[in-house]
Amino acid sequence: MSITKELLLFFPSSLLALCVYFYLAGLNRKRPNLPPGCGGWPLIGETFAYLKAHPATTSGRFMEHHIKRYGKIYRSNLFGEPTIVSADVGLNRFILQNEGRLFECSYPKSIGGILGKWSMLVLVGEMHQRMRMISLNFLSSARLRAVLLPEVERQTIMAIASWKDGAIFSAQEEAKKFTFNLMAKNIMSMEPGEAETEMLRREYITFMKGVVSAPLNFPGTPYWKALKSRSCILQMIEKKMEERKGRIGAEEADDLLGWALKQSSLSKEQVMDLLLSLLFAGHETSSMALALAIFFLQACPKALQQLREEHQNIARQKRERGDDEPLIWEDYKQMSFSQCVINETLRLGNVVRFVHRKAIQDVHYAGYDIPRGWKVLPVFAAVHLDRELYAEPHQFNPWRWQGCSPGVTSNFMGYGGGPRLCAGSELAKLEIAVFLHHLVLNFEWALAEPDSAFAYPYLDFPKGLPIKVQAIA
Ligand code: HEM
Repeated sequence: MSITKELLLFFPSSLLALCVYFYLAGLNRKRPNLPPGCGGWPLIGETFAYLKAHPATTSGRFMEHHIKRYGKIYRSNLFGEPTIVSADVGLNRFILQNEGRLFECSYPKSIGGILGKWSMLVLVGEMHQRMRMISLNFLSSARLRAVLLPEVERQTIMAIASWKDGAIFSAQEEAKKFTFNLMAKNIMSMEPGEAETEMLRREYITFMKGVVSAPLNFPGTPYWKALKSRSCILQMIEKKMEERKGRIGAEEADDLLGWALKQSSLSKEQVMDLLLSLLFAGHETSSMALALAIFFLQACPKALQQLREEHQNIARQKRERGDDEPLIWEDYKQMSFSQCVINETLRLGNVVRFVHRKAIQDVHYAGYDIPRGWKVLPVFAAVHLDRELYAEPHQFNPWRWQGCSPGVTSNFMGYGGGPRLCAGSELAKLEIAVFLHHLVLNFEWALAEPDSAFAYPYLDFPKGLPIKVQAIA
């Protein structure tokens, strides 16, 4: 027999054997029971439909449609990866609590490119722990009482003092300026209104546009401009670091830069990314929460009235201590209805709508398999707006938080959860409560034009939330 003939005889039979082998092996290995869903278009999957802008107080047509069709846990293809999307409160909690064991933080590469590889938002493992500890110490309750409360009040009074009776302005812009100035002060002791603070703010606005834009890095795109702004901001931080190092023997400033410089094991790049990520995490979120509170309150006179009474009582006690006395911790602790307003604002407005994770092990949950390496998106907004968990979920109802049933609080994940729970949640509550204190005591306000918040998925009021204020005599 010629070699060719032998090969012809050998190949079909061996091919058949191989096929049978793989078929049987396949039968033995259980196929993963993936949640229902569909992958959408090649490469882009369903990303554009998922990210389509929708009113912030809804979970969007895509989510609503997919939940109706597939249930609260479904599979999709998002951000170029096979993904499990969860609107299920149990799975969301399970994902957050198993950070580092079964799941890991996994933001798109473009975010890491712009926030920096040492940013707390993208770091995992031991390095994340170290950065987190520095941030938590910096934002400890002792500092909140002694340093941050007086500073927040000082900056609130400065912000509100510039509002004239009858003026019309963008409340979103004012909220952004306020929280930016506060973070610039806390991070690098920069004073509001000074030239370098304003320069930093301008660069930061360009930087932010890149964080939320498509990661197309060529001249002229928002992402490209943002990378340039990132370099400018880092140069400013570096200059501050050099100035500090030059002041040998001088007492270290009580700001985040001062704290980070004391951690001699951190490299210059690590300190710079830490500062930038805190500026980002602490500014965008609180400013939107504040703008949303201003928006929801003007539409709910009953809540505004109760809030005002709470702050009038506190102001009366303050006056009894003496004129122009600052707020003290005991005053802040009495702002219980304000805390209900803040919780309800975050539940209904959903400043952080979902977070990015990936499975680092094969995970089995509620009969479904989540394969290792798959992306997982716990969507908090869908849980917060779930009528099975919150009665009349689209209503702004701060009273639901008063003496609330355990479900109301335990289903709430506005600040995330588990080992990555927001490091600045207490500062955020303090900022919003103190700002509301001075706002409701000094002004009435109404929308100057109709506007409402949209999720792009980052939140924004398209017209900037224009309001007209009237000073209270
Ligand atoms: C209303 C305002 C705020 C909201 C809704 C909010 C929400 C969140 C959420 C949901 C996360 C978790 C992200 C994830 O798991 O991937 C987070 C993380 C974080 N937040 Fe906030 N945040 C707010 C204000 C602040 C403030 C004022 C600061 C700092 C000054 C801050 C600092 C951080 C940091 C450092 C992290 C990362 C924590 C870690 O990875 O360990 N946040 N925030």
